[in-house]
Amino acid sequence: WQGCLIHTISFTEFQIFNNGLLIVDASGVITELRELESSDQMEELKRQYSLQEDQVNRLTETQFLIPGFIDGHTHAPQYPNLGIGLDLPLMDWLEKYTFPTESKMKDTNVATQTYTRFVDSLIKNGTTTACYFATMHLEATKVLAEIVSSRGQRAWIGKVNMDCNSPDFLRETLEESLESTIAFIDFMKQERFTEAGLIEPAITPRFVPTCSERLLKGLGEIASKHKLPIQSHLCENRQEIAFVKELFPNADNYTGVYQQSGLLSRRTIMAHCVYLTPDEIQKMAASGAAVAHCASSNFNLSSGVLDIKPLINSGIRVCLGTDVSGGTSPSMLHAIRSALIAAQTTQINANADVCNLDIMGAFFLATLGGAQAMALDDKIGNFAPKKHFDALVVDATEHADLLDLTAKDATKVDSALALLKKFLMTGDDRNIVNVFVKGRKIR
Ligand code: GUN
Ligand code: FE
Repeated sequence: WQGCLIHTISFTEFQIFNNGLLIVDASGVITELRELESSDQMEELKRQYSLQEDQVNRLTETQFLIPGFIDGHTHAPQYPNLGIGLDLPLMDWLEKYTFPTESKMKDTNVATQTYTRFVDSLIKNGTTTACYFATMHLEATKVLAEIVSSRGQRAWIGKVNMDCNSPDFLRETLEESLESTIAFIDFMKQERFTEAGLIEPAITPRFVPTCSERLLKGLGEIASKHKLPIQSHLCENRQEIAFVKELFPNADNYTGVYQQSGLLSRRTIMAHCVYLTPDEIQKMAASGAAVAHCASSNFNLSSGVLDIKPLINSGIRVCLGTDVSGGTSPSMLHAIRSALIAAQTTQINANADVCNLDIMGAFFLATLGGAQAMALDDKIGNFAPKKHFDALVVDATEHADLLDLTAKDATKVDSALALLKKFLMTGDDRNIVNVFVKGRKIR
């Protein structure tokens, strides 16, 4: 690849290669990343690697390459509800809209239709990796895995566990829940999944209210035995937190319930975490669990406004989640913008001079931050050599006027950065030309 490449290397640092060179080997692994001094160098390299012209991807003036987006939390079966039924707070919203919609996935035909549309929509919007919740239904969860695998996207996929405090039509017994979890893990051991190495099953207790103590403990044991990632919801809404206190009066707190069940690890992502107490922040940090910040959903369900700064300062890894359909968009661009609005809301409420999150910080959270939260930052998140090539070609042609708008003495770096920011703040899927996962073009 030759052209403008932009990626982050930490929450506060990013790099721009204006006339960048990025070499990807046949297995989709990045072998080289640097700035080219001149275009003649490209000709030398072509000779050195005996490359044909069609093996060189030259980005145009208005294009740039960024790492693929990582959605740290989303619900595939809730896609039909996108944008509707947001008039109620969390617990009532689940009862009235979400549980009935999820129950339809019992029919694998409905699941196939819903999941095909959802996965394609995520890919179109530049999500190269997603942490999916399916439903409690084993067969439909397999359908989701098949679709994600057929599209070549990278993912965690969770068969949801729920054995209490939900309606009859969406509840399993303890035994069913554990058995179908094992069955899904076994299903994912098939060669066609393991060979590609892109999808992992994730242990997915829905949240404490819908899981018995025995179920939580059983899932903790399965996760540790099979060394699997874990995903769930935590401290999203005040009513939910009060309910957990009633259900587990002897636990330290909500986070303590997960901790005592062995569900907090270096490979755990807890969504929301709006109302963590200092003790809970300490528990999350000590266990190495990560947080998926789902700002769009937190606004839509009036759950609350999360300030991620104290979490980051405590060493907790933070990523962004679309949380469809609490969130109203499958696009990580929307998650980025919602996270910025949440940070600005925090700033306004605190009457503070500075905002805790800037756009490049949000770009980090949507890429490398996601990789870190999933403990996959040795593989994805930016273009560091040895990582897999998960990337988006972005064309900002629609916004090219910006090139002229920048000051006369603006450097090429300024222009590139302006185009990236313009894309992040005002762009959409139409600006995403191609999507790559592990070197393979998936769109
Ligand atoms: N808590 C438990 N289940 C859900 C869900 O489906 N969406 C959200 N936003 N929160 C939850
Ligand atoms: Fe969620």
